[in-house]
Amino acid sequence: MLFTIPDLLSPSEVIALCNRLQKIPLVDGKSTAGWHAKTVKQNQQLDAKQAEPLGKEVRSHLMAHPLFQAAARPKQIQSVRFNRYSDGMTYGRHTDNALMNGARTDISFTLFLSDPDSYEGGELVVEGVDSEQGYKLPAGSVLVYPSTSLHRVDPVTSGVRWAAIGWVQSQVRQAQQREILFELDTARRSLFSQYGKTDEFDLITKSLSNLLRQWVE
Ligand code: NI
Repeated sequence: MLFTIPDLLSPSEVIALCNRLQKIPLVDGKSTAGWHAKTVKQNQQLDAKQAEPLGKEVRSHLMAHPLFQAAARPKQIQSVRFNRYSDGMTYGRHTDNALMNGARTDISFTLFLSDPDSYEGGELVVEGVDSEQGYKLPAGSVLVYPSTSLHRVDPVTSGVRWAAIGWVQSQVRQAQQREILFELDTARRSLFSQYGKTDEFDLITKSLSNLLRQWVE
């Protein structure tokens, strides 16, 4: 399931974060790419060690977000990186590593940090089976998508594109199962807000809980 979280960070939080990341040295993005992704990755990243406190903040914003909790069911966010694209930089078609710091990657996310009007190009394009969709979200918004997908970042032809990216291990390995849980949860909450704690609400809650017991690892 692919979804967006609008305004994970407020405009003032984005400005504060960007001011801090400007002070951290950049390294070549190839330093953290796998042997095949290296051949198509041309961007810059913040030095991982120095960016750690910023990564922690992004993590805690995400972990506290109700939509992220309900749709991703995160066990842990393994890694958050900050990258910068300018002057034609791009990250060609690739799939993310299945393991990151020894943990399985189920879900990837990109937190957009630059105003979309301030740069040209730089769309994050996620491929489906026979179509693809490009995303260029407002600063502070997040795209959450399956790590199993092929995706790319198109060349940034003018301006600068900053983003934070990361990987999540979910408590529920299968994307289809996460979607069922999310839809049941959404439906029961809507029922609850309209009619209160009815018999139907109780039955859906029971099914949701029992599916969780089967699927959570
Ligand atoms: Ni990627």
